[in-house]
This record gives sequence, C-alpha cells and structure tokens, in this order.
Amino acid sequence: TTPLRLGIAGLGTVGVGVVKIIQQRANLLAARTGRPIEITCVSARSRSKDRGVDLSAYGWEDDPVAMAKRDDVDVFVELMGGEDGPAKAGTEAAIAAGKDVVTANKAMLAVHGQELAELAEDAGQLIRFEAAVAGGIPVIKALTEGLAGNQIDRVMGVMNGTCNYILTRMESAGLPYDEVFEEANQLGYLEADPNLDVGGIDAGHKLALLSAIAFGTKVDFGGVELEGIGQVTIEDIHQAADMGFRIKLLGVAQLTGRGLEQRMTPCLVPAASPLGQLEGGTNMVVLEGDAVGQIVLRGAGAGEGPTASAVLSDVLDIARGIRLSTFGQPAKGLEKMRRARVDSA
Ligand code: NAP
Ligand code: HSE
Repeated sequence: TTPLRLGIAGLGTVGVGVVKIIQQRANLLAARTGRPIEITCVSARSRSKDRGVDLSAYGWEDDPVAMAKRDDVDVFVELMGGEDGPAKAGTEAAIAAGKDVVTANKAMLAVHGQELAELAEDAGQLIRFEAAVAGGIPVIKALTEGLAGNQIDRVMGVMNGTCNYILTRMESAGLPYDEVFEEANQLGYLEADPNLDVGGIDAGHKLALLSAIAFGTKVDFGGVELEGIGQVTIEDIHQAADMGFRIKLLGVAQLTGRGLEQRMTPCLVPAASPLGQLEGGTNMVVLEGDAVGQIVLRGAGAGEGPTASAVLSDVLDIARGIRLSTFGQPAKGLEKMRRARVDSA
C-alpha cells in the first residue's frame, strides 16, 4: 500500500505533538486508514534545537516553502502560525504543487481563508483545519459531517482557554486582572502577542471560521464584533456571582433579522448552565441545529496532545480518501452575507 507522506512545517508545541503521535502509534494509524502515515520531511527555524523527539529519520528543509513543493511530500502540515509569511506562502506553494494542506492556523484562515479555499478548490486540493478551532474538540467535523443534515441556527462558545483561565482564576482567587494576567504569562499560556488572547482576537478568528461552515457565508472576521477581557474587574465578577451569573468571553454567531451576527464579547452566563460551569483553560462549543437540537462539546482547547489529536484527525481523513471542501461546501458557493431566513422566507 502507498504511504501518505507528510512534510511538517513547525516543530513547536503542536508540531512535536504530531511527531510523537505518529511515532508512537504508527501501527494503529495504518490499521485505521489502510495506509502507513509517514513523515518524510520537517522544517523549523532552528535545526539544532533539542525538541525532545528523534527527528533523525526525516529529511530537513530550512525553508518550509521549499518543503511544501518536495516530491516526497503528499500533505503539507502547516504548524508554524502567523497570518502571512511562510504559513501562507507554504500553503499556496503546496496547493500549486498538487499537495493537500492540514493546518492549525486560525489567524491565517480567518483572514485569508476564502482566497485559500478557492485556490485549493480550483486545484482540486484540500485545506483541512480541525485543530484551528477549539483545539482537541472535533467541532469542525461535528459541523461539516455530523450535523450536515441540519440548518444551523446558532453557534456559541468559549473558544479561548487563556481568557477562561484568567476569568475563572480572578473569581476563585479573588485576584485582580493584572495579577492573573501576569500569572498566565508565567505559566506560558499567553500567545507571543497577548492581545490575540485577551483582546478576543484569537477567539474571534475561531468564531469567524465556525460561522462560515455553519451558515454558508464567506469567512468574515472583520464582521465579528470584538471586545476583550481587559476591562473586566473583580467587582464585575463578584456582582455577577451575586446575581447567579459568571462572566465568560463568549462567542455567538447567528442569523437574525439583520443578517449574520457574530459577537465575541464578555457576557453574563447563568452560573448553573454548562457554559457557566466551565473552569480554567477548557473550551466549550454549543451548536444548535433545527433537527438535532442543542449539542454541547467540551474539552481541551489547546496544548500539545489535544491540538495534535485534531491535526491527526485531518491527516487520517486524507489517508482514508475523504475529500471534504474547506468550509463544508464549495468555497465559490459561499455567500458574502447571508440574509436572515426571515427575510428570504
Ligand atoms: P510554537 O510552539 O511557537 O511553534 C512554532 C514552530 O514554527 C516552531 O517550531 C518554529 O521554529 C516554527 N517556525 C516559526 N516561524 C517559522 C519560519 N519562518 N520558518 C520555519 N519555521 C518557523 O507554536 P504552536 O503553539 O505549536 O502553534 C502552531 C500553530 O498551531 C499556530 O498556528 C497556532 O495558532 C496553532 N494552535 C496552537 C495551539 C496550541 O495549543 N499551542 C492550539 C491550537 C492551534 P523554531 O522552533 O525553530 O523556532
Ligand atoms: N491561545 C489559545 C487559547 C491557544 O488560549 O485558547 C489555542 O488556540
């Protein structure tokens, strides 16, 4: 049988997690797909850094874009991050060279997803991104596959673990925002640019991606009403608790009389609800479909194992020959702005 050959660009938290799973579970993965999953080449900024995994059996490229074009790579696994730069250039090069792409990069897709999905569609290639939204929670597959027969009415969720950690820690320890922010920083939770987390931008990227799938609209990150958690005070949290509520950085996307609405803002949620009970760095996504009703997905939204788990699910789909379009329907069929159903009825 023909192996599926991966080129992995980025050997940080997620990349190393992917390498470990492939090294530890080679037989299981081959049994599940009927094809060996092989890493043929890897790329990162530093070749000499000790990453705690043995990379000696793989080829090395300093330039991830060159790796994306290599003949011995079938799937370009983009785990570097960044809206543009080598992530986008490598994705474009891979598609042009007839390779599929698996990425965890919500920033790149929230901004360039429509253009990249159209590029992939024209070339007959795939871009899959299960790891980009809510880490280990298989929410993309839930929407594109499990709920494909539903009209989706609403998507909600807590999609940034760092913000949820900060808000729940402020409450449980009675500490002010600045102190907990510093604690999160010491623990290594914050993105290199912390405003991506606490400004709600990272969670907004994720919501924009889910909206495109759920409502058949072009990815519209610019249309997400964004407010971060920097203004939330310990007094706000205590007042909310007195009334039986908790404050969460909550994303909501839905069709209303004005069309598609997307909001990622601090919200009061009932303390007794599933969202209200979400602690620490965990994520929760609530999906509402007309046939299925409400589905609640909860789990680790970040970290080596959970995020690598999601990357592997896309790799295994490709090995199995599952050819799903990027946003669950042809990219050129996505509408700029879907009018409210009430208007079109
Ligand atoms: P990370 O630990 O910072 O690792 C990034 C890797 O990319 C590093 O190995 C780095 O090389 C390499 N890299 C960066 N720029 C490069 C360049 N110009 N050329 C070649 N290699 C380059 O990041 P991460 O946490 O693994 O995240 C990777 C992606 O997954 C991002 O898109 C992130 O948003 C997404 N993601 C992460 C998580 C998570 O929990 N960490 C969860 C969901 C999604 P060096 O190691 O040599 O510096
Ligand atoms: N910074 C992100 C979070 C990482 O805290 O949820 C996972 O996307």
